[in-house]
Amino acid sequence: MSYQVIARKYRPQTFDEVVGQNAAAQTLRNAILQNRIAHAYLFAGARGVGKTSTARILAKALNCAQGTTVTPCNECASCVEITAGNSLDVLEIDAASNRGIDEIRELRENVKYAAARDRYKVFIIDEVHMLTTEAFNALLKTLEEPPPQVVFILATTELHKVPSTILSRCQHFNFRAISYQEVLGQLKKIAAEERIQISDEALNAIARASEGSLRDAQSQLDQIISFCGSEIRDEQVRDLLGIVPQQVLDDFTAALVQQDARKVLGLVDHLVSSGLNLQHFVREMLAHFRNLLMLKIAGEDPKLIPLAPAEMSRARELAAHFSEEDLTRFFNILVSADGEMRWSSQPRFHLEMTLTRIVHAKRLVPIEELIAQLGGGGLPAAGDPPAKGSTQLPQAPATSRFTAAGPARSVSETMSALSAATESSLVEALSAALAQRSPMVSSLMEHARDIRQTDAGLEIEFGKQDRFSLDMLQSPENFNLVKEVTDSIAGKPQTVKLLLEAGAAGEAMPVPAPDEKRELLERVKEDAGVKAFLDTFHAEITDVKDLK
Ligand SMILES: Nc1ncnc2c1ncn2[C@@H]1O[C@H](COP(=O)(O)OP(=O)(O)OP(=O)(O)O)[C@@H](O)[C@H]1O
Ligand SMILES: [Mg+2]
Ligand SMILES: [Zn+2]
Repeated sequence: MSYQVIARKYRPQTFDEVVGQNAAAQTLRNAILQNRIAHAYLFAGARGVGKTSTARILAKALNCAQGTTVTPCNECASCVEITAGNSLDVLEIDAASNRGIDEIRELRENVKYAAARDRYKVFIIDEVHMLTTEAFNALLKTLEEPPPQVVFILATTELHKVPSTILSRCQHFNFRAISYQEVLGQLKKIAAEERIQISDEALNAIARASEGSLRDAQSQLDQIISFCGSEIRDEQVRDLLGIVPQQVLDDFTAALVQQDARKVLGLVDHLVSSGLNLQHFVREMLAHFRNLLMLKIAGEDPKLIPLAPAEMSRARELAAHFSEEDLTRFFNILVSADGEMRWSSQPRFHLEMTLTRIVHAKRLVPIEELIAQLGGGGLPAAGDPPAKGSTQLPQAPATSRFTAAGPARSVSETMSALSAATESSLVEALSAALAQRSPMVSSLMEHARDIRQTDAGLEIEFGKQDRFSLDMLQSPENFNLVKEVTDSIAGKPQTVKLLLEAGAAGEAMPVPAPDEKRELLERVKEDAGVKAFLDTFHAEITDVKDLK
């Protein structure tokens, strides 16, 4: 049997086989079932995510000898020819190599003739954004007065380059990047079918490197197989992909935790002598810090974090050593290093400087602690680096960063307050009223994990993953609306409190309402320590947190 590349061999042949494009596939199925076939479709999305494949499936669905169907047979002459790309009635045009007016004129001539055998004449124009302006104008004329039984399917990786006059005449479909997990699943299936021995970690690495392009992932696997045969070792995959071993990333991170600049520089030396591409290393570090940050924010969510289970638990250990702020800062430093290194003749020097900066960046004391120091013992003496232990603050549970603004209540008190709140009617009336007043605020409230009426007033609690909704709700305009509606339902002023879910066993943490915040800000501005701080650093207060 002749060898067929994986990407071709595993091209989806039915809507069901298309991975990760459910929205597009389902809409197309419905259109076919309801016999509402548009004259022009536009498939937009990144490379290798299934645009051309779906276009061909749609063409088969329209022209299958069984009759127009959502499940083309893939056996009749029409289907077979379309799959092979030599159907007389389904023409594929690559706009990248046929950009000009002549080609489009030819196409317009061709459009006039009825289908040779099939029901529809289908024109698939790939990379349509490459057409010249003249060619677009000619195409536009055809789209404006389309002959019956002609269907255009335009595909593009660069939607913004397609003129709006064309866009407005097409039914538009977005093809999204394939999720890491979907890519991984597909690679596993292919490896099993091809009887390839390859570890999950290696497949993971390929999936990660593909950045959402299933074709890239498959081509990469192909290349690895042709290089290594059917038994593939992890190092081979790493070498071929130019991937930095997870261990190296972990070593670097550990050295950063220990603030050991010397060790970090030693590791760089090792990278250089083992011939790794340093720019690539920086990108991998970026992905690594991004994963650590995600872990802190969202927990071990395999949808968000492309790590195998063993790697995940190691990453969680590492993440515990940093605060969100640390990780964001490291990320930003690396982003600029990435940009600088691209043009640098000495990428090694850039990398060394960057990592040294990161080692020292870790020594920046979190602002909460600085202010606490200002209030207490004053600023540490100049030139006096903060004690090493203090930089480990991020390890403290998150509760310490928000220590309760209001009187902290014990769990049992909360429980009794909860059971005392027999009327949930306020909460219900509130959500009904808000739905009327502001759909936006109402949908923000829907993200709350709990809304309860207690002796102390109304409490709205958000889970950590919904912090964004909480922040939005905290804006004065939104918050005041909630307060106003609550007051009017209760018939008297109510205390409304926003809370953020605490860690494992802790209690939820109150988040200051805008009014309290303003008051807090005024108080903070009066503080002599803060004044000194603002003067010394020409600083500005952008946010206040009550540390009590
Ligand atoms: N959504 C998908 N489901 C299954 N396989 C896919 C999918 N997307 C891509 N592939 C695989 O990648 C190959 C190329 O896909 P396709 O040509 O449809 O991508 P494309 O979006 O048109 O890419 P390009 O923009 O580069 O033209 C297919 O043969 C198939 O093996
Ligand atoms: Mg394509
Ligand atoms: Zn058929």
